[in-house]
Amino acid sequence: MNKPVILTGDRTTGPLHIGHYAGSLANRLRYQDTHDQFLLLADSQALTDNAHDPDKVRRNVVEVALDYLAVGIDPNRTTICLQSHLPALAELSMLYLNFVTVARLERNPTIKEEIHARGFGRDIPAGFLCYPAAQAADITAFKATVVPVGDDQSPLIEQTNEIVRRINAVAGVPVLAEARAIIPELGRLPGIDGKAKMSKSGGNAIPLSASSDAIRAAVRAMFTDPNHLRIEDSGQIEGNVVFTYLDAFDQDRDDLEDLKARYRHGGLGDGAVKARLEDILQALIAPIREEREYLSKDIGQVIEVIRTGTERARERTELTKCQVVQALGLFQLPLTRTKAGRSLSEGLA
Ligand code: TRP
Repeated sequence: MNKPVILTGDRTTGPLHIGHYAGSLANRLRYQDTHDQFLLLADSQALTDNAHDPDKVRRNVVEVALDYLAVGIDPNRTTICLQSHLPALAELSMLYLNFVTVARLERNPTIKEEIHARGFGRDIPAGFLCYPAAQAADITAFKATVVPVGDDQSPLIEQTNEIVRRINAVAGVPVLAEARAIIPELGRLPGIDGKAKMSKSGGNAIPLSASSDAIRAAVRAMFTDPNHLRIEDSGQIEGNVVFTYLDAFDQDRDDLEDLKARYRHGGLGDGAVKARLEDILQALIAPIREEREYLSKDIGQVIEVIRTGTERARERTELTKCQVVQALGLFQLPLTRTKAGRSLSEGLA
């Protein structure tokens, strides 16, 4: 039995942090057993709002790959691949742009929210407005049927499925399959400042490569309950970042509930709660940081992992592109020498 195909990815704009760990990396480790998993280093998508800084996008390809490997993604069971080196994704994106309207792109809640957050007006990069079509290309090119994304990204999957239905209708055959979003139970972790979501660029994240001093400093600086002034005062759990993180990372649920009760009641200081969180984060991050340092000594090997995965992904995505072109009945010169093209013409697909 073939395992279901799962695709996720990360824009290569910065090293990953504990929010990524809680929200997606931990799940990706589990999917290695149950799914045929592809991880996309989304450097092309990263450029859609970082065109002014291609150097950042390039540098972080290896950083994100290091994070994957350091947390335990096994390149023999998960294909790690580089988006910009998969030409079929770009070709499918161009095709899909004809199956979606500007009005629909502008109405996509994910895009709307991001346009608002970044203060874009008519000066929005066209690539950014259109990235939902490119993400539809990613998903369908891999024939992914399961796509785990944060809840803010689920409109992208809806839009993907609209494109799929439109193409299938024009083709007259179900050449593409619809995909299903999986939203992690745990919502996004807030930043240590408690204000926004933890973000690579916001200066409010704890990266997976954080030193033990940096972890300590981050926990000390963490936002708690501003009205909890004295130890004997009753404290609030809601909106208290230390407890939000404990909810995400503390395995001892009974003990944690007990701790919350004592905090609410009064008599428990922020220092004690922070010490507990710090222990947990130090224990979580130390082995990841050490593995990352070890892997960093041989970047050539990391690049080899990306290269091998990208080769594998190339064949897979190229095949889908050929199938879509064929299903739509576009003109095809008998030029195709690629393996995907051959297997299609020989009826192996
Ligand atoms: N949009 C995703 C993010 O910002 C990255 C991404 C690119 C992705 N292509 C994808 C996620 C395909 C899932 C499937 O994190």
